[in-house]
Amino acid sequence: MTYSIIGSGNVGASLATQFARSGITVKIANTRGPESIAAMAEELGSEIVPATLHDALKADVVILAVPFRAHTAVAHALTNWSGKVVVDAMNTYGVSPEELEGRASTDVVASAFPGAKLVKTLNQLPAKLLAKDPAESGGRRVMFVSSNDQAAEASIAKLVGELGFSPVSLGRVNEGGALIGMGGPLILQNFIKQG
Ligand SMILES: NC(=O)c1ccc[n+]([C@@H]2O[C@H](COP(=O)([O-])OP(=O)(O)OC[C@H]3O[C@@H](n4cnc5c(N)ncnc54)[C@H](OP(=O)(O)O)[C@@H]3O)[C@@H](O)[C@H]2O)c1
Repeated sequence: MTYSIIGSGNVGASLATQFARSGITVKIANTRGPESIAAMAEELGSEIVPATLHDALKADVVILAVPFRAHTAVAHALTNWSGKVVVDAMNTYGVSPEELEGRASTDVVASAFPGAKLVKTLNQLPAKLLAKDPAESGGRRVMFVSSNDQAAEASIAKLVGELGFSPVSLGRVNEGGALIGMGGPLILQNFIKQG
């Protein structure tokens, strides 16, 4: 399984920190090109591979850490999304419910990536907490995972566990997944699961 993070800002950099800590190789891309990510990669280690957007989109699993409306530009950068898993780590700051036409934001994102399987996760914590070692107080920080596709949800829950978090599956994005959407009761919640 190959991974990429699109976005090298607050969330992208926090996720890169976790991939590096866990020894999992990941490509990372933004709008400005790989040179702009070189210093971060040097600091974090060889697991972090700066890439062009074109190159990063070749990964099996593409993690979206871009402003919500930028997901369409990422989607248009590849002609065929079939077989890929796209992880929605975005939140809908500044996006009205009308703009989402009453749909779950991840369902809106899914319609921009035909053929891909969407998983919502890695969005629930503030970036600074997302970057911290998930091992805390003898337990592990909880990370919620939601998808309409059970196999994709399981594969990303496994990755989330490998990154050091304690994954908790929420099921479909318009049901359990709504709990980690904007305004949901689980967003910004920092739970530690023992054992
Ligand atoms: N900040 C938080 O605490 C937090 C927590 C949870 C979730 N979120 C969500 O995570 C997402 C990212 O937030 P952030 O705070 O990390 O934002 P940010 O610091 O502004 O970083 C956004 C990144 O996206 C890249 N980007 C924008 N459009 C792109 C495109 N078309 N193609 C490739 N890369 C593109 C930017 O590239 P350049 O660097 O080249 O400009 C930048 O690296 C948002 O949806 C936000 O709602 C944020």
